[in-house]
Amino acid sequence: MAEPRVRRLVERDIQRAIELTDLEGWGYTRADFERLLALSPQGCLAAEDDGHVVGVLTTTTYERLAFLGAVLVSPEVRGKGVGRLLMQAALMHLASTGVETVRLNAYMDVVKFYERLGFHGEYEVVRWRVAAEPRGAGPASLATAGDLDDLAAFDAPVFGASRRALLERLLRENPETFLIAREGAGVVGYVVGSPYGGACEIGPWVVAPGHPQAAQALFRSLVNAVGPREFSLSGPSRNPDLVRFVREAGFTEVFHTLRMWWGKDLFPGEPAGIWAAAGLEKG
Ligand SMILES: CC(C)(COP(=O)(O)OP(=O)(O)OC[C@H]1O[C@@H](n2cnc3c(N)ncnc32)[C@H](O)[C@@H]1OP(=O)(O)O)[C@@H](O)C(=O)NCCC(=O)NCCS
Repeated sequence: MAEPRVRRLVERDIQRAIELTDLEGWGYTRADFERLLALSPQGCLAAEDDGHVVGVLTTTTYERLAFLGAVLVSPEVRGKGVGRLLMQAALMHLASTGVETVRLNAYMDVVKFYERLGFHGEYEVVRWRVAAEPRGAGPASLATAGDLDDLAAFDAPVFGASRRALLERLLRENPETFLIAREGAGVVGYVVGSPYGGACEIGPWVVAPGHPQAAQALFRSLVNAVGPREFSLSGPSRNPDLVRFVREAGFTEVFHTLRMWWGKDLFPGEPAGIWAAAGLEKG
């Protein structure tokens, strides 16, 4: 291996990024990388060795909090410092833009890699999946562009920072599966479903703590909107209502990751209000 260099990941690298992430079966599509690039055009990186992309990584920044994901190095060059080079470049870039806290979800067998880079463990995020079918219409309604201000204001304290740009983009991409629950005039929860193939990824799914019935109504409405298929989500083990819900609804556990932080441990949000991450790479 020559001396690898790290540069921005750009549109023409997407096919290679998909090839690499497919090696781990992460299921990234062109639309996923386009969304990640649109949200943080400067923050997605590629490691290049002799003209070939041998590693990728994405970052998504929400104010002074960033999430890091899709960290992958080509198998033939693993263990040669490419992963560390990518991570250091990403952390340096994020710190230079004013980011104070970086979070990620680490596979359990990669925790040590991140600890060596200064990350600390926080709590487990579990991937769950279930085959579900409609059982009558739920009471939640489709969100519209007019709901965005309320949604962003409701989401920010639970997530830990404003995700308005992400929510706006998700609403544009998923107008039929972005549902909102209100009590009186106030938002008590929302859920986004991203159907693909015969399955559906759930997230973000955020509900005011203490309103598990609103979460159930959102799930029922989402299943009704999407139709019978397999639903998957990644959610914090620190949300007891979520843990009870997945058990009662017959979800099975797929794998665990460890949420980790780097920098200052700020913007913790309220994990008891998070029912599904927006994706392991976007928090
Ligand atoms: C995890 C991964 C990105 C690491 O990249 P890499 O280029 O192999 O790592 P590096 O060579 O830069 O290793 C840096 C350090 O971390 C250590 N390390 C690397 N992978 C490790 C692992 N899985 N467990 C423990 N330590 C690890 C290295 O030994 C090295 O230690 P050192 O500081 O003492 O020299 C790469 O192995 C990979 O793509 N794995 C599959 C995808 C994956 O699991 N991604 C992470 C998802 S959370």
